[in-house]
Amino acid sequence: MPAVVIIGAQWGDEGKGKATDLLGSRIDYVVKFNGGNNAGHTVVIGDQKYALHLLPSGILSPGVTPVIGNGVVIDIEVLFDELDALIARGVDVSKLKVSANAHVITHYHRTLDKVTERFLGKRQIGTTGRGIGPTYADKINRVGIRVQDIFDEGILRQKVEAALDQKNHLLVKIYNRRAIEADEIVESLLSYAERLKPMVADTALEIHQALEADKTVLFEAGQATMLDVDHGTYPFVTSSSATAGGASTGSGIGPGRIQRVIGIVKAYTTRVGAGPFPTELFDASGEFLRANGFEFGTTTGRPRRCGWYDAPIARYSARINGVTDFVLTKLDVLTGLETIPVCVAYDVDGVRHDEVPVSQSDFHHAVPIYEELPGWTEDITGAREFGDLPKAAQDYVLAVEAMSGARISAIGVGPGREAVVVRHDLLA
Ligand code: GDP
Ligand code: IMO
Ligand code: MG
Repeated sequence: MPAVVIIGAQWGDEGKGKATDLLGSRIDYVVKFNGGNNAGHTVVIGDQKYALHLLPSGILSPGVTPVIGNGVVIDIEVLFDELDALIARGVDVSKLKVSANAHVITHYHRTLDKVTERFLGKRQIGTTGRGIGPTYADKINRVGIRVQDIFDEGILRQKVEAALDQKNHLLVKIYNRRAIEADEIVESLLSYAERLKPMVADTALEIHQALEADKTVLFEAGQATMLDVDHGTYPFVTSSSATAGGASTGSGIGPGRIQRVIGIVKAYTTRVGAGPFPTELFDASGEFLRANGFEFGTTTGRPRRCGWYDAPIARYSARINGVTDFVLTKLDVLTGLETIPVCVAYDVDGVRHDEVPVSQSDFHHAVPIYEELPGWTEDITGAREFGDLPKAAQDYVLAVEAMSGARISAIGVGPGREAVVVRHDLLA
């Protein structure tokens, strides 16, 4: 089972970090292929809690080679800070490989992210302000700075000057900000070169060689299907390919290599930032999910918007990604509810839609049609076999599985590494 992809099936924060960590001891490489330090993954190992943003979660497993692929955008200062924090806690980070083709987030990208959001006013996306969108825009616009440019001062200067020629007009004339000096950017990027150099590699070649040698490579997505720039709720999305196809373009392996796609899906739904969210709750039930699930952003600390499970979204994700297995996370958070509503379809202006509507306006108007499932009160955090779960919790899993387009192979029953019920081996 060499190439396995993990993706988020909703709007992020499904527990991808924990799922990667769960497989950690059985994988050889873990590759982050999209996004940047907009992501936030919390992994709990024993009494230790790790919050990772830019680094793949697999870095916490001894023996795993972590890779930052070409599809990622890198804030190098954040990269070094995150590495230093792990080193201080005794984690071996020496194997990290960084793609020479990954794009670099600079000061002007962060500035532009913040000022464009401010300019959008009511229409703002609620980005993480980390410079993600402007860096991907430069990549597509062919004025980006790549990791390899940092090792050639002449080229670097040319590229930074070309990028700033455009941006300073924008910053000064439109956004009323001061111009940014090319020197300032070039100097700061050059100051990273020495430490960065040994990590930089032809990562596509290394991954290819690993697969040829029958190593197990896990491709770990940041963000999620509904935040994907093509398949999400555009324009309320991130700027990268967070779906399974992104694993191929964002790392440089052929799509035919991918043998399994694991979709991480929460037993309810959350979203951070703006945009449509049909099952969102504004009442005490939403508060219940937020408090019990501790739904506050790992990156920005913002309270997450909370709502019930949305089966059409799970089916949509199963389709778009070719999900072979779901991991249903945070089932324990639902403990104590008398009944649990699950969205089975939408009512859009009086018309029933069984699938996610293709028109964004329709999706904005989608009102969930719920089926009520019986709840349970027993503590399930100690469950390790499916049979350990109370009957109502088993029935919830089976009902959701039947609606979601792929089998549920594992169930999260708590934040800890061991708090999981495995039904089918995710790598077999
Ligand atoms: P990611 O962005 O998909 O990696 O997810 P985050 O780490 O941002 O958010 C998931 C949160 O849920 C983290 O705080 C995890 O420790 C926690 N978590 C993951 N799985 C479970 C679970 O099964 N039960 C509970 N209670 N918490 C979980
Ligand atoms: P993980 O990997 C949840 C959201 C932001 C915003 C939109 C665009 O932890 O699941 P961006 O800064 O990417 O341009 O913001 O995407 N967003 C996330 N929401 N989890 C994430 O990552 C997210 N990364 C970005 O809140 O709405
Ligand atoms: Mg997260």
